[in-house]
Amino acid sequence: MAAAERLPVAVLVSGGGTNLQALIDACAVPDFPAEIALVLSNKPDAYGLERARRAGIPTAVVDHRDFDGRAAFEAAMQARLAESGVRALCLAGFMRVLSADFVGRWPDRILNIHPSLLPAYKGLDTHSRALADGATVHGCTVHVVRPALDDGPVVVQADVPVEPDDDAEALAARVLTREHAIYPMALRLLGAGRLSVVGEHAAIDGRAGHLRLPWHADSPVFVPAEVG
Ligand code: GRF
Repeated sequence: MAAAERLPVAVLVSGGGTNLQALIDACAVPDFPAEIALVLSNKPDAYGLERARRAGIPTAVVDHRDFDGRAAFEAAMQARLAESGVRALCLAGFMRVLSADFVGRWPDRILNIHPSLLPAYKGLDTHSRALADGATVHGCTVHVVRPALDDGPVVVQADVPVEPDDDAEALAARVLTREHAIYPMALRLLGAGRLSVVGEHAAIDGRAGHLRLPWHADSPVFVPAEVG
């Protein structure tokens, strides 16, 4: 019997790509329901491109500095993505803000990972802001992308404790270990067709809510959405 079709996705990176690596490793498991058909970067020297090459994955560079404005940059990305035949996108440390027009071309088909428990700490410097606030619990989120920055239905979150002597670097490293756990979980749901969006919320197997991975746990729990 032929293997079940895997969802072809592109991973968009701007940097080191440790989340990309976690997705590459997940996709190497035979029953994983998605495959990375393209790694695209806006930075020619992003180490994520090297990770892709090592894994035998096609790469593309669309350097935003080569274009006169965001519309032209996004049109070039869109053309390359369309050519690759991917049906969904994973943003993994992709440091360009995407326009509403671009996001609208991939309705509920773009995932992003963000190093905080959204909606807390949108934007940059999440770890130092959490430390400055005296937060005791921090974490990370995979969400469906909406045009507003770091906004959109939450798919999976992981809790990460803040230790008393943490600095931003130590906390970031602890959060990153959980990013690598939850991004494959979210892509697995998308690839298997188990993820949808109902209004403001994600739905898993048709039930509005998201997954939450407690610290030290291997398996997430389902958190039903409060649908008002
Ligand atoms: C991660 O912290 C991710 O949450 C954020 O950018 C960072 C990318 O790290 N969006 P890497 O390139 O995946 O190592």
